[in-house]
Amino acid sequence: MTKPGEEKANEWDTDAYDEEHSFVFEYGEGVVDLLEPAKDERILDLGCGTGHLTAQISNSGANVVGLDSSEEMVAKARKTYPECEFVHADARNFAFEDPFDAVFSNAALHWIPEQDAVLDSVADALVPEGRFVAELGGAGNVAAIVNAVRKEAAEHGYEVESPWYFPSIGEYATKLESHGFETRHATLFDRPTELDNGPDGLAEWLSMFGDSLLSVVPDEDQSTIISAVEDRLRDDLLQNGTWIADYRRLRVVAIQTRK
Ligand code: BEZ
Repeated sequence: MTKPGEEKANEWDTDAYDEEHSFVFEYGEGVVDLLEPAKDERILDLGCGTGHLTAQISNSGANVVGLDSSEEMVAKARKTYPECEFVHADARNFAFEDPFDAVFSNAALHWIPEQDAVLDSVADALVPEGRFVAELGGAGNVAAIVNAVRKEAAEHGYEVESPWYFPSIGEYATKLESHGFETRHATLFDRPTELDNGPDGLAEWLSMFGDSLLSVVPDEDQSTIISAVEDRLRDDLLQNGTWIADYRRLRVVAIQTRK
């Protein structure tokens, strides 16, 4: 348990992440298409998780480096894809000797409120005219779930704040420009997402991704709050025994023009 105001990083069960929440990297395949990786390009996969998309990008013949801040994720990625290179580093503060032709990121950046620090590092890591291709949760992402958790937690006397960064197109394009990027493509779209594990899907999702959301709630109150959240959301998000989370995605392609 963490006291209000203390930062708490999400704890990752890498096997459950791969087996029960595989939609995260399966949906990311569309972002790889947007990247259009080419043979011999040098590409950084920022927030690579267990490395599935890193490996997929390397199938194009590109030289890919996967980077993640979770030691557990990096260890699993190295074990699963020994032919790929993975580094354990912080997206807010990384540096490489050789620049990259492109930086790619799927479903990782919304974990990092300090987005200016990330974009500084990304800009530094790219060649002139290098591209940044990313998907993250966009404005309104999982709003129904976050609101239900906040209301239910408030009824139990806890003040829950969303730990995630879900920007609008305008906000993110402005930020990109302030870091020397020109935004060539930006789209914000609803992507209702089926959660695995049938009727337990929402509770499992909260236990995989919601550590930080629920960090102010003591362990002994969490299951009561989670089942009350399920009651609040059942009519809107449970369909034929499957939970459908109200995901919204922001996709961007930007070119580094300041160099
Ligand atoms: C997302 O991928 O949109 C997401 C992941 C974890 C928590 C919240 C949102």
